[in-house]
Amino acid sequence: MRAVDLILKKKNGGVMSKPEIEWLVDGFVKGEVPDYQMAAWMMAVCFQGMNPQETGALTDVMMRSGGMVDLSALPGVKVDKHSTGGVGDTTTLIVAPLVAACGGTVAKMSGRGLGHTGGTLDKLESVPGVNVEIPMERFFEIVKEIGLCVMGQTEGLVPADKRMYALRDVTGTVSSIPLIASSVMSKKLAAGADAIVLDVKMGTGAFMQTLPEAQALARTMVEIGAHMGRRTVALVTDMNQPLGMAVGNGLEVREAIELLAGKIPSGDPLYEVSMLLASHMLLLSGLAKNEAETRAKLTQALTSGAGLQKLGAMLRALGGDVRCIEDPDSLCIVEKKIPVVLGAAGYIAAMRAEEIGVAAQLLGAGRATKEDRIDPAVGLVMHKRQGMHVAADEPVATLYVNDPAHVEEAAALVRAAFTLSQEPPASMPMVYDVIS
Ligand code: URA
Ligand code: CA
Repeated sequence: MRAVDLILKKKNGGVMSKPEIEWLVDGFVKGEVPDYQMAAWMMAVCFQGMNPQETGALTDVMMRSGGMVDLSALPGVKVDKHSTGGVGDTTTLIVAPLVAACGGTVAKMSGRGLGHTGGTLDKLESVPGVNVEIPMERFFEIVKEIGLCVMGQTEGLVPADKRMYALRDVTGTVSSIPLIASSVMSKKLAAGADAIVLDVKMGTGAFMQTLPEAQALARTMVEIGAHMGRRTVALVTDMNQPLGMAVGNGLEVREAIELLAGKIPSGDPLYEVSMLLASHMLLLSGLAKNEAETRAKLTQALTSGAGLQKLGAMLRALGGDVRCIEDPDSLCIVEKKIPVVLGAAGYIAAMRAEEIGVAAQLLGAGRATKEDRIDPAVGLVMHKRQGMHVAADEPVATLYVNDPAHVEEAAALVRAAFTLSQEPPASMPMVYDVIS
């Protein structure tokens, strides 16, 4: 085979066979197919798409490009969750402890944040002492003992995705449904869970900016999961504003602790999306028959403090100082807290999540390149939600600052994220669809 023929085939709208996809991806991982040919083929996929057989074949080949995790030594149904990436999206730190408190088993590998979206590993590391790069045996021990563990994705897991994603990032080939679906699902499948709940984000802060696109991505991933014998459900949830009020690593852990301590009311988007994700995780785990039953269990885990206890147990097992459970403010001690006002009054018609994520990144909460260092305490806290009224001099957010270098730029981005209207806007749904 020649890579150029496979590029031409896809460019002309042809259908790739599994041996062709395997030859290309394996060759790329071995360094026999150069970056430029892989990039050209992926660009052709962006324009021509792939049918379900091709997407399934690509996922399978990527999944088997490195070592795979075998979780079968752990008891029960192992359930994983994955978000396609959002701002203020702290659900893992809420749902994994809640599901474990209800008897579920969550053995999860997570990634780091890049660009305007946060990563669970960076959030966990904002707790002093936490080490997420643990040996696999320790990961198994922790899951056996407390029912949950989140660790860093092991080095050898899905090398094809690592290399393809790095190339996509710099060649304008990220936003393709088959490429995103195979990237996400190859990692989830290789990480070994029996059941997977996906949170597909839709809106200004997400890869998928429209509902039909988000639904198509969700359906593609659910089909791949089902085809590979894993119980898979996808929610399509809103990312037209940050999910939680906090954006930043320690700030988001503080918000997760506050939610698990019962300090965030139902009706709040972070609360509702977390409960729905956890609910589907329990259903797929066979630990409840219907949503009414899962709700009752989850509410009990929340009000009894059992969920918060599980989070504390996991942080302790990872070497963390768990005083933050009692004193979450200790995670976000900064030199300056700076309010942001809009200077105009009105109803908040829109609050673009991407700008808010970039503002937090500029303050030091995220990375622009893989080498950047994160300041765990900095970021911002939003005070308003879409649909609320704001007065001209009323703060819409507070910046948590240690390095003053980018404060003006960050504040300007936060202000630019808002669109005001004089009439109350229609309220936005938090959940658009559930696909199973
Ligand atoms: N997240 C992933 O893991 N891969 C993608 O392609 C997009 C989002
Ligand atoms: Ca994420």
